[in-house]
Amino acid sequence: MSFRAILSVLIFGVFSVTFAEDQMPVLQKSKKISVIGTGYVGLVLGASLAEWGHEVVCADILQDKIQDLQNGVIPFFEPGLNALVQSNVDANKLMFTSNIIEAIQSTDIVFIAVGTPSSQNGAADISALEAVAKVIGENLNGNKVVCIKSTIPIGTTRKIQKLLSSYIDPKNGYVCAMAFNPEFLREGTAIDDFFKTDRLVVGAEDVYVFNMMREMFKPLIDQNTTLIETSYESAEAIKYASNAFLATKISFINEFANLCDATGADVSVVAYGMGLDKRIGPAFLNPGPGYGGSCFPKDTLGLLHQGKELGVALKVVEATIEANGEQMTRVVSKIKALVGGSLSNKSIAILGLSFKANTDDIRCSPSISIIGQLLAEGAIINAYDPMAMNNMKKILPGVNYCESIDAASYNADVAVVLTDWEEIRELDLTHLIHILKKPILMDARNLYNPLTLSQLGYKFDNMGRGKSVVP
Ligand code: UDX
Repeated sequence: MSFRAILSVLIFGVFSVTFAEDQMPVLQKSKKISVIGTGYVGLVLGASLAEWGHEVVCADILQDKIQDLQNGVIPFFEPGLNALVQSNVDANKLMFTSNIIEAIQSTDIVFIAVGTPSSQNGAADISALEAVAKVIGENLNGNKVVCIKSTIPIGTTRKIQKLLSSYIDPKNGYVCAMAFNPEFLREGTAIDDFFKTDRLVVGAEDVYVFNMMREMFKPLIDQNTTLIETSYESAEAIKYASNAFLATKISFINEFANLCDATGADVSVVAYGMGLDKRIGPAFLNPGPGYGGSCFPKDTLGLLHQGKELGVALKVVEATIEANGEQMTRVVSKIKALVGGSLSNKSIAILGLSFKANTDDIRCSPSISIIGQLLAEGAIINAYDPMAMNNMKKILPGVNYCESIDAASYNADVAVVLTDWEEIRELDLTHLIHILKKPILMDARNLYNPLTLSQLGYKFDNMGRGKSVVP
């Protein structure tokens, strides 16, 4: 145990013991762990724990998904994940099953990493979590530690603990001790984020659970990762607060970019200058078409909903959400202005569909809203993305999906950059201008130097880096 780990217990208090002395499962270096839910979080967690030497079984109710995983097919694109999964499957440390009961019964520690999507009113839908709690409670065959990974409203771990306990047959005398251990990984860099996390947060109420978690995450503690051991509620709040704050940082710089548009300041210089202040930092100050993905939109809405339920005003979070929606509409307005006011029958090349680079994920991608608005105004959309087109085809018909930047841009009235893929960042602007019908470019990710664009003869706009130059 590192000094930091000990320190964290001293700082965050003394906790109770759920397990009686003779009930404690034996702590072992290599643990038997099940992970319920094989989305980004569950799969990365399972493969990474196996990489550390634990015996891991990943379970999911989706049989097709499990069958794919058993055949070595990863259901989404994540750099490095395929190799990590394969090597641990080959070493017999990682298994996949659709038999959730068997997975739970054959392991001492159960991680729950199921989805908590937004429901109609914005509240996080924790029904999948409740369903797993029921399965665990009803099928408990020994004392276990149950650790929630899914992002949840503050207070949910305690709620799930009560629910799970209500399903345990009192005759068998088994105990489940709970933990909440938030995941901070980003899609596209998930493996690196897991092994080099800025901090490890464990919410629990039981000394035994804290010890178990330290053992499980020993490699992180050995590399001096700051460990925060705290209550369920504080751990849950750390996750919600982190995501809401990052989303707010993005909405802040997006609005500031709009002010730069109106004043002639260059937002990239402004962000650089701000970021040098250590209290602010340079990360998450890149303006764009708005934040998307599976976390920020869902978690800001969930947080706002929880605040409303509790009568706590979260005006900053509310403004963050509102500003994000407006940012997408602002991109549409900029495109409209570039093509002369009407989008009717304008051929638009959309470059990039995923919510950010290095992922095929399109959940809450700004491109969905932007393309929807363009289509509604009569534009013809030719889109290209290196990875996300298959996913987008399933939800957005009425778009011509093209197999290259060139194919999407050929004879287009305007090219619109929506995702910061390296391939799009590096595209040959001299070549592009020759294949477009008109030399018009909307750089909604600020990938190109405005001076270069104007020297090449583009009519262009961006997010707060400088006014369009009409050749
Ligand atoms: C996020 C959090 O970063 C991660 O800690 C959490 O576990 C899950 O949610 P992710 O959704 O994978 O991760 O993507 P992230 O890299 O955070 O980007 C989110 C969105 O913000 C993207 O749409 C991205 O393009 C946008 N963004 C990010 C900006 O517009 N500007 C920035 O400066 C940074």
